[in-house]
Amino acid sequence: MAAYKAVDLARRLRDAEASVTIMMTEASQRFITPLSLETASQNRVYSSLFDDPLAHIRLPAEADLVIIAPATANSLAKFAHGIADDLVSTCVLAATGKKIIIAPAMNWRMYESPACRRNLEILRSDGMIQVGPESGSLACGEEGIGRMSEVSEIIEAAVAALCPKDLAGETVVVTAGPTREYIDPVRFISNRSSGKMGFALARAARNRGASVTLIAGPTALAAPSGITCIRTETAKEMLQAVKGQVNAGATILVMAAAVADFSPANRSNTKIEKKDLATLALDRTDDIITAVASAGRKPFIVGFAAETGMNLDRAARKMKDKGMDMVVFNDVSAEGCGFDVDTNRVIFLDRAGKKELELMSKYDVADALFNRLLQIKA
Ligand code: CTP
Repeated sequence: MAAYKAVDLARRLRDAEASVTIMMTEASQRFITPLSLETASQNRVYSSLFDDPLAHIRLPAEADLVIIAPATANSLAKFAHGIADDLVSTCVLAATGKKIIIAPAMNWRMYESPACRRNLEILRSDGMIQVGPESGSLACGEEGIGRMSEVSEIIEAAVAALCPKDLAGETVVVTAGPTREYIDPVRFISNRSSGKMGFALARAARNRGASVTLIAGPTALAAPSGITCIRTETAKEMLQAVKGQVNAGATILVMAAAVADFSPANRSNTKIEKKDLATLALDRTDDIITAVASAGRKPFIVGFAAETGMNLDRAARKMKDKGMDMVVFNDVSAEGCGFDVDTNRVIFLDRAGKKELELMSKYDVADALFNRLLQIKA
């Protein structure tokens, strides 16, 4: 099954504008054909050591990154011991100094064998980046650990491996998603927010070498790997979680969460009958940015201003009033921006002035935000 995913991996790497050259083992050709991978990679596929006698030196020398997906127990054993008896193992041996990702796939009994564990330990200590495997139903019909990671996870590891580590040493806290303010156990008021922007920010910071904590309100998104994820529900819980991280030494706080500005003045512990609730009394929630900015240890603070229309002045005022170092202006009524979509168009406002970005993916917005932050923080 994992071999089929390799076709999708090749195609998705090309979508991400990578140039992809595939090498196949003999065994892999029993599962998928070179033609499928040639089509997916739009490039020649290599499978023999002798068709092109110098390919095993040239291909790894030219590569920025080598990905072994799927990595079988047999291949891992060969890599761990420097055995070079086919094109793939010879290339891996010749990929000295290159970044190498391994995505193991095998039956759980093989994965948990002492030999395989030992080999993976050797490969990790040699600097190879291991992605997965995951638990679930295996091709043989058994359940257990051994499924190759999803293609998106492997791509993510590839992006991280190639990223400059310019946020190394920074402790970044990102908030994401909405908060819920309860009226009673079954009703709440909330803000619209999918959490996608905040999760993209956390991933970008992790990929650039930061130690990252993501404080998320209720969202459907899964916690990204390599990130500490604290799940919260109310504005009060989010405030406590943020304060805890700032006191523990966070150096950068990015408040992408859509924190509710109001919470019901009285939260009932039992369900209120609708005839008893004609009007709802609300209290203002504490402003998290203001609380952090006015405390002793202040991290670099980035806030978001979600507006409907080009209210740049309002965003600038929020930055000043709350003590932010930078504000991300976001017209949520514009096409391709705002809630539940994967793209955004934003304007950064900070002490260096204003920077307007094109419409781009939320991940690219996150990257641009950290580029800007590093410029003005320096
Ligand atoms: N924020 C916060 N604490 C709150 C509410 C918002 O820290 N209790 C943060 C948000 O995470 C965001 C920024 O403040 O980074 C948004 O500022 P805000 O003034 O809340 O924007 P709006 O809610 O859009 O304000 P208004 O309704 O006044 O336009």
